Amino acid sequence: MKGMVIRLDKKQEMVPQELKDWLEETKDVKLEEMSEFFGARVEEYEEHMAPWKKYYSWMAKELPENAKEILDIGCGTGLELDAVFGRFPKMQVTAIDLSEVMLRQLNEKHENRNLHLICEDYFTANFGEECYDAAISFETLHHFTADKKREVFQKLYKSIKPGGCYIECDYIAGSIEEEELLLSECKRRRKRDGIPDNIFVHFDIPLTLEHEIKTMEEAGFEKVEVLGYLGENRTPMIRAWKIEGTVTILNISQMTGLTDRTIRNYIKRGLLQGNLIKGVWRFSKASLEAFFDEKFVKQGLEGKAAILVEHFLSDWKEIDDSLCSVYKLKINNDNSQKLCDELLEKINANNYRGMQFYYNFNKKTKIAKFVVTGLPEDVIDITKLLNTFRKQKLTQNSI
Ligand SMILES: C[S@@+](CC[C@H](N)C(=O)[O-])C[C@H]1O[C@@H](n2cnc3c(N)ncnc32)[C@H](O)[C@@H]1O
Repeated sequence: MKGMVIRLDKKQEMVPQELKDWLEETKDVKLEEMSEFFGARVEEYEEHMAPWKKYYSWMAKELPENAKEILDIGCGTGLELDAVFGRFPKMQVTAIDLSEVMLRQLNEKHENRNLHLICEDYFTANFGEECYDAAISFETLHHFTADKKREVFQKLYKSIKPGGCYIECDYIAGSIEEEELLLSECKRRRKRDGIPDNIFVHFDIPLTLEHEIKTMEEAGFEKVEVLGYLGENRTPMIRAWKIEGTVTILNISQMTGLTDRTIRNYIKRGLLQGNLIKGVWRFSKASLEAFFDEKFVKQGLEGKAAILVEHFLSDWKEIDDSLCSVYKLKINNDNSQKLCDELLEKINANNYRGMQFYYNFNKKTKIAKFVVTGLPEDVIDITKLLNTFRKQKLTQNSI
C-alpha cells in the first residue's frame, strides 16, 4: 500500500500546479466547437499570436531551399505564410483551414500570391500524392489524439515528394501523466456537454514529444528531428523527412521469400503498415522493423539464408548461369542501416533479374549477414558494394 501512495505523489508532480489549477478553475466551462472558437476570435487573433512572430520566420527558414510548392494545414489567417512569402515570394501554397473567416483574412493579406485556399477539415481533405516539396503546420494539431494525428501524418507523408519534409511547431505535454490527464479531462467534458467524438472542440490534448515523434514515424516518416524549442521547452519545432527510394513490396519479397500476394494480404490484414503512393506500396523502416519482429515472419526468415544456399546447391533452375555469395561483416548499428539502404538502393536501381537475397543484422554480435543468388555479374556487382563498404569501414576504424 505504501508503494502506491509514493507513486500517486510522484504522478501529481509530473503535472504542473498551474495546469491543475487551471483545470480546476475551468472545470464547469462549456467546451467550444473548433470553427466557432476561431471564428469568434478572428479580430484579435493576429495580435494574440504576435509573440510568435520570430518563430514563424524560423519555420520558414527551415524549409528546403529549393522548395517551390508547399501545403499548410490549419493555416488560420496565415501568420506562418507571411514569413514563407517573405523568404519565397513565388512559393505556390495550398492552405487548408476549417474557419472561413480566418481564410478570408488570409486571402485579403495575400491576394496577389500564388495561393490556393481550401475551407475544409484536414482529416477529410484530399492532400494528393507526391505533389509538395514540403508541408507545414503551426499550433493546430494539439487538439487531437495520436490516432487522429497519425491519420493526418499519413496523408502528409503521401502528399510530400520523396526527399521532402514536414515541419511542425506545436505544444507538447511535459509528461505522460499530463498527456493522460488532459485527454481524460477532455473526454469528461465532452461527455458532460453531450458532444460526439466526430465534432472538434477547442481543448488542448497535446502528446509528449516522444509520443508525437513515434506517431510521425508510424505514419511513415523515416527521419524525425527536433530543430529546437520556441521559448521554454513546451513547443518544439519538429522536422520529419520523407526519404527517397524507400523499401517496396518487391524488396520485402526478395528479403523474406514471401510472395507478392502474401505480402499484400498481410497489408490488408494490417500486419504490415504501408503507404500506397501512385499505385506503389512503400514501407517505412519503423513499419518494416515491426513486421520483421512478428513471430511468424521471424520464423520464416530464420531458415531463409540456409534455404537460399541449399536451393542454389540443388536444382535451382530459374537462372542457368548463377552465383551465390555469402558475406559476413562486423559493423555497428548505424552502419548496418546505411549498408542495408545502399544495398536496397542498388538492387532497386538495377532491377537485377531473378535475384534473391537475405540480409540480417544481429544487434548482439554486430554481424551483418548477406546471402545473394542471381546472375554472376549481378552478384559480383553487389559483392563489390559490400567490399567497398568493408574498405570504408576499415578506413574509418584506422583513423
Ligand atoms: C491556433 S490556430 C493556428 C493558425 C496558424 N497556423 C497560425 O499559427 O497562426 C489553429 C487553426 O487550426 C484550424 N483547425 C483546427 N482543426 C482543424 C481541422 N480539423 N481542419 C482544418 N483546420 C483546423 C483552426 O480553424 C485554426 O485556424
